[in-house]
Amino acid sequence: MSRTRVAILISGSGSNMVALAQDMARADHPGEAVLVAANTDATGLQKAAQMGLRTAMIPHQGRAKPAFEADLDASLRDAGAEVICLAGFMRVLSADFVARWEGRILNIHPSLLPLFKGLDTHRKALESGMAVHGCTVHGVTAALDDGPILGQAVIPIEPGDTPEALAARLLPREHQLYPMVLRRFLTGEKAPLPLI
Ligand code: GRF
Repeated sequence: MSRTRVAILISGSGSNMVALAQDMARADHPGEAVLVAANTDATGLQKAAQMGLRTAMIPHQGRAKPAFEADLDASLRDAGAEVICLAGFMRVLSADFVARWEGRILNIHPSLLPLFKGLDTHRKALESGMAVHGCTVHGVTAALDDGPILGQAVIPIEPGDTPEALAARLLPREHQLYPMVLRRFLTGEKAPLPLI
C-alpha cells in the first residue's frame, strides 16, 4: 500500500501533532508523517524529534512573508510532502501558498466554525451565551478559518467555565477529531465525518 506523505506544521506544544503522528505510526494508516515543521522554536519540535520524525524550523520573524513561505515550500517539497496538516500553526498562509497546495491543506480550529474565527475562541464562545463549544477540522482556503468543514467535535459549556477550563476540556476532543478526519481525507471520503 502506498501511503500519502503528510507534513504537520506547528507553532506551539504540538499536542495535535503528536495525536496525528501516533495515529500515522499504525500499520493500517493511509498516511505517513514525513515532516514536522515550525515557524518558531516550538516545544512540539522536540516531541517530534523524540518520536523519530524529521523536523525543520523555518523562522518567520523579521522576514517578508514571500521569503518565509518560499523556504517553507522548499522544505515541504524536499520532504516529499503531499498533504499538509496545520496543527496550532499560528501564521496565516498567503493566497499564493494556498493555491500551490490547493485542496491538500487541513487545519484544526478550536471553535464550531463558522462561529468564532481567529483568536480567543474559548472566550468568544463563553461570552456568546452558547450552551456548547467545540472544534472543527476544515480544508484550508485563502480566507482565514474558512473552507469546507470536514468534521466537528462538540463539548458542553458548563456553569463556572473559564476560557482556560474550556480549552483544557476541548483539547482531548481535538486529539480525537483530527486523526479521524485525516484518515477519512486520505482515503478520499468526501462526506464530512458525522458529529462526534
Ligand atoms: C489547539 O487548540 C488548536 O486548535 C489551536 O491551537 C492549539 C494548539 O495546540 N489552533 P497544540 O500545539 O496542538 O498542543
